[in-house]
Amino acid sequence: TADAIQQFDLLFKFIIIGDTSVGKSCILHHYLRHKFNSNSRHTVGVEFGQRFIQVVCGGLPKTLKLQIWDTAGQERYRSVTRSYFRGSLGVILVYDVTSLDSFNHVQQWLTEARQFSRQEATFMIVGNKKDLVSQRVVEMTEGAKFALENECLFMECSALSGENIEEVFNKTAHSII
Ligand code: GTP
Ligand code: MG
Repeated sequence: TADAIQQFDLLFKFIIIGDTSVGKSCILHHYLRHKFNSNSRHTVGVEFGQRFIQVVCGGLPKTLKLQIWDTAGQERYRSVTRSYFRGSLGVILVYDVTSLDSFNHVQQWLTEARQFSRQEATFMIVGNKKDLVSQRVVEMTEGAKFALENECLFMECSALSGENIEEVFNKTAHSII
């Protein structure tokens, strides 16, 4: 494909983590294909995607290649996904705004991610499924407060509507540049 031979100036590895079913694969799918995947299956181990974006770095336009690892949230794959933290500059930690459990587990995910990823990694906490307004149990202010206290970036998004999907990746990339 054209992508395979595309030139780039910078390469960043990102990893997407968080509980099972929070929408990690749907977020990546929307970011890569600009649409919602309505029959997403549980990820087995890890899946991989890439996208090229234009950024400005030191006043000059650059092509940034994002290599994005989408991990399995199911407990049994935990040891497999751990090994993917190592080279990651961006860690996207997802919870589901309709699942209190998934939000309560963010602390554990963050502790693990900090232990296994690079010193200079940027952490972006993401509350997904913001379209499910009537089922929301985690308020935006709670997510934002946690992120602030733990020196992470924060956004809410929807892989269904596409709201803030681009911004999640752009904000993370720009904080690294
Ligand atoms: P694992 O691979 O098991 O770790 O799960 P995952 O985090 O990759 O979840 P996945 O992306 O497969 O989505 C899980 C379910 O949530 C699917 O039924 C999706 O259709 C649904 N879903 C994902 N994102 C959204 C969203 O933004 N809004 C709504 N309403 N549903 C979503
Ligand atoms: Mg998945």
